[in-house]
Amino acid sequence: MTETRRLLSPTQLRPWLDAAREVATIGGARALEWWAKRTTLTVEQKGKNDWVSEADRDVERTIIAALKQRFPDHAFLGEEQSKETAKPGQPLWVIDPIDGTTNFLRGVPLFAVSVACVVGGEPLVGVIRLPLHDETFAAARGQGATLNGAPIGPSKVARLDESVVALGSNRKSEPGPVAASYARLIEAGVEVRRLGSACAATCYVACGRVDGYLEQQLSPWDVAAGLVIVEEAGARANDYATGEWLTKGGPWVCAPPQLFERVRTAAGF
Ligand code: IPD
Ligand code: CA
Repeated sequence: MTETRRLLSPTQLRPWLDAAREVATIGGARALEWWAKRTTLTVEQKGKNDWVSEADRDVERTIIAALKQRFPDHAFLGEEQSKETAKPGQPLWVIDPIDGTTNFLRGVPLFAVSVACVVGGEPLVGVIRLPLHDETFAAARGQGATLNGAPIGPSKVARLDESVVALGSNRKSEPGPVAASYARLIEAGVEVRRLGSACAATCYVACGRVDGYLEQQLSPWDVAAGLVIVEEAGARANDYATGEWLTKGGPWVCAPPQLFERVRTAAGF
């Protein structure tokens, strides 16, 4: 156990977990308002098939304003706008206002609002809200993970040829290795899914709806909350939150413990 985790007892984490739940609910409600009028949104292209809309920006602003009211001394890192770094010991909130922006803009009903609290580079609290499904996944270090308040755990599937594994890619991915992973998993008998939301895919591993999720390059806001949720649910993840993860991101793999190495090896990660 690291120093940060030893210092942070359940009582200390509780106010952050409660706040993360509240602001993810506020952000989710706001995202739903935009969802209803998504065809009228102003959309900008950040890169090849990488989009941002006024909905993403507004939801991020709304969440950060709600967090600042509660924690004026904390720092904030969001996908779209706020790019702060934390001073030593200062909590950093890492936010993805709409994870699954392409799904959102195209009317595919799977997107998430993600809020994490990170201290000393370690994600300690994570909440992911799927507002269309009225689902809130939440976890704090040492306290387990829940879906709408009920404890969750990963699947018991132990064979690749009985498993369902989610894959993802984005404009930072190298096409060759992504295609090779896809092919190798199919070869191993895996049923492959592409869900379009890293946060939803990670939560689905945490509650056993899929048996693994891999992506070659993910940003900190894609992973920070999900990492706490999936590990606290009892699944395994790679060593994502190390080194320069808050500025550079990295590869992400998570799966139930009994399948983790098999999934990772089969995908060639
Ligand atoms: C993206 C989604 C997608 C994943 C991409 C992410 P965004 O996030 O999570 O599923 O494959 O790598 O960038 O841009 O929708 O927030
Ligand atoms: Ca994202």
